[in-house]
Amino acid sequence: MDAIKIVGGVPLKGEITIGGAKNAALPLMAATLLTDKPLTLINMPELVDISTMSNLLRQHGARIDQSALAPGQGEAGATGRSMTLTSERITSVVAPYDLVRRMRASVLVLGPLLARMHEAKVSLPGGCAIGTRPVDLHLKALEALGAKIDVKGGYIHATAPGGLKGAKVVFPKVTVGGTENLLMAAALAAGETILENAAREPEIGNLAECLNAMGAQITGIGSGTLRITGVKELHGARVAVIPDRIETGTYAIAAAITRGKVVLKGTRFELLDSVFSAMRQAGVSIEPGPDSLTVSADNGLKGVDVMTEPYPGFPTDMQAQWMALMATADGASMITETIFENRFMHVPELTRFGADVNVHGASAIIRGRRNLSGAPVMATDLRASSSLILAGLAAEGETLVNRIYHLDRGYERLEEKLGACGARIERIVGG
Ligand code: EPZ
Repeated sequence: MDAIKIVGGVPLKGEITIGGAKNAALPLMAATLLTDKPLTLINMPELVDISTMSNLLRQHGARIDQSALAPGQGEAGATGRSMTLTSERITSVVAPYDLVRRMRASVLVLGPLLARMHEAKVSLPGGCAIGTRPVDLHLKALEALGAKIDVKGGYIHATAPGGLKGAKVVFPKVTVGGTENLLMAAALAAGETILENAAREPEIGNLAECLNAMGAQITGIGSGTLRITGVKELHGARVAVIPDRIETGTYAIAAAITRGKVVLKGTRFELLDSVFSAMRQAGVSIEPGPDSLTVSADNGLKGVDVMTEPYPGFPTDMQAQWMALMATADGASMITETIFENRFMHVPELTRFGADVNVHGASAIIRGRRNLSGAPVMATDLRASSSLILAGLAAEGETLVNRIYHLDRGYERLEEKLGACGARIERIVGG
């Protein structure tokens, strides 16, 4: 298994180009199942999760063509590839266990398959390192649209013989994937669907705008109430994937934790307001430019409390990275995790760097110190992995982050991007 070796203590200086958002790209790809016409996505990141979704969609019958993006295409400054997905014929409505267990986002094929084929059989994703992560809210909402759901043998078997029918759905809890599944299902349902307490993450907006470009009728985008008037069929479209706000935040913290200065290109300040305002309170400078952000910090950062919340609150996907930064700030800070029940798996690993962190239930108290020291550590999930990389960049001496396959699911060419800013970082293949 690959590992990453870092010799820390170097202030990062340079430029990093942010790629397209993994968590926007995955539901956008699933939207191909709603139409027999081509859907072209530009600014696509190249990640293991994207390949997993491609494999899943291919076995449903999608054809996928990829090409490198010519400079000047996509969002200004963005790199990445374009991908054209065409699902002329759905050849299977089954999402098998072997693919779903690799990536929970596979459950996003449920809504579109059910809407177009009136049937879907999708393996239950099961728990994962950060929590139990049930999909009960997806299923209850689909039932409200008239689906019959039977969970047997580890599979969700959903049918809607006469097609789905619009209905009012009030989500008892904000769910990103649930909102995405329902948006896709309702786009082809008969009549009007109202989704209340819908997730407002920018990735939901990206999907809703894409569906509208495909001929759907969705209003209320960006708010907690989405109204969808179902249409008989959708057509093709060409849509840009938004910049990855979690990649943006991770590299912003890389600049701050090393007390360096990095220009982040191809991204937007407003995607990550909550994190940037906490960073500013901590003493980090963030200067937004037309298509870039300059992040810099000196010594003397101070502890700031945060609590994870659905968007526009502080994202749970930045919690582990924030903890690494707070471990190097002056004074104490508290992090409260409200989205996942088991998302402090990085704590014992961060303490190996000398970080002083105590967990009490859903909160962690961090007492910052100036010097972390490098250590061998083990990654437990995607964002935990990036927090260990960040701590390694700040720490004196050598760090070895083991089990980095999680990182490849969500960060494209991480060593290259950090290395270009002066980080002493290398991948050890089979390490
Ligand atoms: C998305 O997961 C993201 N994944 C996650 O990113 C992210 O952490 C999460 O949203 C929260 O922002 C993708 O977009 C592919 P949820 P999702 O449904 O949709 C509970 C990363 O690192 N819940 O909003 O699965 C659930 O257990 C990943 O890139 C139910 O109880 O998250 C959690 O506590 C990790 N029943 C909370 O709601 C349900 O039916 C929010 O989950 C659905 C969710």
